[in-house]
Amino acid sequence: MNFVGAHVLSVSQFDRDAIEQVFTVADKMEPYAHRDRVTRVLEGAILGNMFFEPSTRTRVSFGCAFNLLGGEVRETTEIKTSSLAKGESFYDTARVLSGYSDVIVMRHQTEGSVQEFATASRVPVLNGGDGSNEHPSQALLDLYTIRKEMAAQGKDIDNLRIALIGDLRYGRAVHSLCRLLCLYRKVHFTLVSPPELSLPDSYVDEMRAGGHTVIESQDLAPGISHADIVYVTRTQEERFPSQEEAEKYKGLFRLNQSIYTQFCEPNTVIMHPLPRDSRGNANELDNDLNENPNLAIFRQTDNGVLVRMALFALILDVVHLVDKYARDVSWYTAKRF
Ligand code: NCD
Repeated sequence: MNFVGAHVLSVSQFDRDAIEQVFTVADKMEPYAHRDRVTRVLEGAILGNMFFEPSTRTRVSFGCAFNLLGGEVRETTEIKTSSLAKGESFYDTARVLSGYSDVIVMRHQTEGSVQEFATASRVPVLNGGDGSNEHPSQALLDLYTIRKEMAAQGKDIDNLRIALIGDLRYGRAVHSLCRLLCLYRKVHFTLVSPPELSLPDSYVDEMRAGGHTVIESQDLAPGISHADIVYVTRTQEERFPSQEEAEKYKGLFRLNQSIYTQFCEPNTVIMHPLPRDSRGNANELDNDLNENPNLAIFRQTDNGVLVRMALFALILDVVHLVDKYARDVSWYTAKRF
């Protein structure tokens, strides 16, 4: 994959070499993300960060990643405050905003919208999530996290045992992650969801065709009992035809410390793309797991900055210059990492 000037729209663009390239650059970003060093390599560059759906970590971490490389961020955060609300097409918006920015990240509720936008853009576009379709940067940061967590246990991604729990129908993070995992060998997938929210057949077929094992279940306990990774998801209520319909599926699978102790192996890693829905009727990942050392959710969010910095550095072709424009930090930095 040639990253320079490329759009990142789908995980299907990635092979194992491309993934390795991203991860090698992500590792290199650690001193900058951890505030040991500052780099100004993207000084003068502008990121157009366009989030037409709610977002905290994807939007802010893309923005921080760009800032940490020395670039500036311009945000558009709602349809109602943009000209899309006046009937402007993606084509026109893309033509205009690509004149203002060096690279664009876009999230939108409609499947395929970011692809459509990219065809009219004059600068690279990264998919920050298009409806229930794809979320490539989340899948890359999840895979990067899986690789690190497994390496700490002396394991590999090949032969991984992963349980995916919850709304697998609408969860775009899961869709993209399953596709990336298909690039590895003999992954054992356990899919725990109500039948109405099961992973779409196209993904299951792709997984089976790639020689992976897929077990579908509606039971949390057996699903999580032989897993290296338990990946929990939120009911994607915004994708349901009505709120009442979404409510039916909330809280069906709840992981807490007592269930973890009873059914998981002692070092099973817990992941979630976040946000976890902590309201009483949902609470799919209980706060009583917060002190569990195998809870990797905040390592995922930290890793997201590294992976997003890597994508910008590769696409804007500055990987070899990052250290050249660097210096030590000059302010007090709290120990966070
Ligand atoms: C996910 C998303 O937006 O698809 N969140 C994220 O980007 N980390 C998952 C979710 O919203 O449940």
